[in-house]
Amino acid sequence: MDYQKRFEEIRDFLKAHTYLHELELLERFEEDLSPKYKKWSDELGSLSINEILSIENNYEFSFIKDSTLRDFIKTAKDLSKIEQKKLDSPSIDDNIKRKMNKKKVHEISKITSLLKDSTHERIIDIGSGAGHLSSALVNEHRNSICIDSNKEFQSMGEEKLKRWSPKTLESIEFINKEIQNDDQLNQYINKDTLFIGLHSCGALSSTLVQLNPDHLLNFGCCYHKLEKEYNLSAASLNSPIWFTNHAKTSAAKGHAYLSEKDFENKFIVKRFRYTLHYFLKDKFQDSFVTLGNAKKHDYLGPFSDYAHSYCKKTLSFTKEELEKYYKENIHFIDSVIKAGTLRSLLGRLIELYIILDRALFLIENGRAANIFEVFERELSPRNIAIYY
Ligand SMILES: C[S@@+](CC[C@H](N)C(=O)[O-])C[C@H]1O[C@@H](n2cnc3c(N)ncnc32)[C@H](O)[C@@H]1O
Repeated sequence: MDYQKRFEEIRDFLKAHTYLHELELLERFEEDLSPKYKKWSDELGSLSINEILSIENNYEFSFIKDSTLRDFIKTAKDLSKIEQKKLDSPSIDDNIKRKMNKKKVHEISKITSLLKDSTHERIIDIGSGAGHLSSALVNEHRNSICIDSNKEFQSMGEEKLKRWSPKTLESIEFINKEIQNDDQLNQYINKDTLFIGLHSCGALSSTLVQLNPDHLLNFGCCYHKLEKEYNLSAASLNSPIWFTNHAKTSAAKGHAYLSEKDFENKFIVKRFRYTLHYFLKDKFQDSFVTLGNAKKHDYLGPFSDYAHSYCKKTLSFTKEELEKYYKENIHFIDSVIKAGTLRSLLGRLIELYIILDRALFLIENGRAANIFEVFERELSPRNIAIYY
């Protein structure tokens, strides 16, 4: 794959559709939708929830009538395609697996497989958390330095190993440190060291990339925490995109592969949440308000109960008034939710923009950086590695 070409294609596509990613679509619908997207939104609004899900999960467009919307989905699909590494899933020692969830076990198993023939004697595990990854990778020939700013995570990992695998702990050093700039890491670099950042969040992955180590395996996440720490490559700088928080959040949260049940549940939550948003806008001219965390069962009852529990302002309206508003607007609300699919498809491309920019920076600085998918999307959607 020609990374620069793909980067430029993604950049141009994202620029052409800035309208869709720079704001929540919820806000776009407060005014008349741009005519360019109105047609698409109308067609998406007429689809079933399962059809919408198949667009989000699989970029399915066979049932789409409007040819420009079909092209949009197809282009998003083509631009998001990257190599998927076929890797085994070796089992992990039961004691090492302690305190890991299914997602973490999956990620660590795949990374173990990816690195099975590597000969690095030292790993620097950046943003290591409890050191779960390092504890699966160290052995009699390989040690690890786990650096993290969170002492609690590190102590939890240290305690676990002390109790369940003291031999492993002998090969791991925990360093509690907030990494702020590359100078502070130079002391750890040597030619044979592999730097790993497994979901080193936000700017931490950018720091790691700018350190330009001899060997690197990095998975980014939490793109919404980035401020100006992207557009690192010369390739990006002649025409960069600076994303809004909404756009970066869609990159950080997107590409999840949802089951029908999960998608339906998400849809129900959005129905209540969006209706309340427009209700507050209509009646009080309120802009977006954050609510307390509602519980699952709150979405199973009537909208009026939800509104009265989570937004005291609505108590000046009767249940009947709230239900009437809900009923009258449900068709509109559903079409707003369904149009959100356009934005979801762009989220993966924003993520790829950021990752390709990092890879290009490394290539410009003499590294043979590759990018590919390592984890199953269903279990871990932030699944793209930069590796060399
Ligand atoms: C998403 S967690 C990943 C933890 C671990 N790598 C894993 O996959 O289980 C990100 C970790 O990075 C750490 N972190 C974030 N920014 C950091 C910084 N500037 N310096 C050191 N650690 C940082 C956080 O404390 C957190 O433990």
